[in-house]
Amino acid sequence: MTRIEVNLEKKPSTSYEIYIGQNILDRMGLVITKKNWASRYIIITDSNVSPLHGDRVQAALKEMGLKVDQIDFPAGEASKNIQTIFSIIHRMIEVGADRTSALIALGGGVVGDITGFVASIYMRGIPYIQVPTTLLAQVDSSIGGKTAIDLPQGKNILGTFHQPKGVFIDLAFLKTLPPREFGNGLAEIVKCGIIDDPELLSLLEKEAEAIRNQDMILLEKIIARTCRIKKGIVEIDEMETGLRRILNFGHTIGHAIEAESGYSISHGEAVSVGMVAAANISDRLKYLPSEDRERIRSLIRMIGLTDRIPPTLSTDGVSSRIKRDKKKEGDIVRFVLLKKIGVPFVNGGVPEALVRETIEALKK
Ligand SMILES: NC(=O)c1ccc[n+]([C@@H]2O[C@H](COP(=O)([O-])OP(=O)(O)OC[C@H]3O[C@@H](n4cnc5c(N)ncnc54)[C@H](O)[C@@H]3O)[C@@H](O)[C@H]2O)c1
Repeated sequence: MTRIEVNLEKKPSTSYEIYIGQNILDRMGLVITKKNWASRYIIITDSNVSPLHGDRVQAALKEMGLKVDQIDFPAGEASKNIQTIFSIIHRMIEVGADRTSALIALGGGVVGDITGFVASIYMRGIPYIQVPTTLLAQVDSSIGGKTAIDLPQGKNILGTFHQPKGVFIDLAFLKTLPPREFGNGLAEIVKCGIIDDPELLSLLEKEAEAIRNQDMILLEKIIARTCRIKKGIVEIDEMETGLRRILNFGHTIGHAIEAESGYSISHGEAVSVGMVAAANISDRLKYLPSEDRERIRSLIRMIGLTDRIPPTLSTDGVSSRIKRDKKKEGDIVRFVLLKKIGVPFVNGGVPEALVRETIEALKK
């Protein structure tokens, strides 16, 4: 089992460890017992993960003599709302959760975001543990303490920063993950290689086929490496005031494409094509050598992700969604661009015409 420590220096009490391995539920039970974070634990999970993995996780904890309850909610982004929060909180009150209780987020990013949010507000804050079951949650959303729910006006509008007590990444969960969800996580791994770790990028190029075939030993190595990148960025910029923004590489155009397609294009596909777009813009603005741009595009294809958007997707629609994004930060649309592989920067001056041209070119 690999252990990675996340050191948040401003508040050492919020530092925590990430444990990564295959079939680590027994060891998770041991660690939770030893750390003694709470008098009882409530697993929060969704309607897909519960029948697949709920019993196993409960059994591993009960085996250690821990008191465990479980609350399920319907799977999917549509549940990331205030009604779900209230219904979970009502159930917690019913089962008698108090300030000495802790939550366990068993699921993907939706479960993680919801559980973290509830934990941050229930009785002014209780501890929680992340047990991510999607590849995206394992390499991205379970680390860093960002929690959120959506409003009809937009995604992730209500949220808090609340760090988990620990993150337990068991690769065995990936065996039941649908391929589309696997691709969503893979895109985030490729992103981390591009923005921070040229060696990881080389490994992904060399082992693209084994990764597509979900070779677990290799995946463990790659997940650990990606978690180290994410934790390194979070340690420097816990509250996302600067450096942490580089994690948005590929996401500005990606989010717009995903939303404009009515979410028929997956997050992973949208971020992949968004990364190709950001690399193309970086090249056109003479920051990024064309060889690096081509390397990014070719890795994305090799690893089974996409570098194209459907010709029917409206460029006007994508472009206006990108502009709407700018309301978040004054009048400037901020793009994360590249000077070379491993050297990203935030740029606020990409001409709209270039963005539109780039989107059009990705349709051919
Ligand atoms: N907090 C953060 O830092 C952060 C970062 C990135 C994304 N997010 C959020 O994460 C969410 C996306 O996360 P996600 O992609 O994990 O989506 P998700 O949680 O909806 O999971 C995707 C699907 O896979 C199912 N699933 C989960 N684990 C499974 C398994 N092992 N086997 C079979 N099915 C399984 C889920 O039930 C769901 O249907 C978004 O809401 C996004 O805003 C948060």
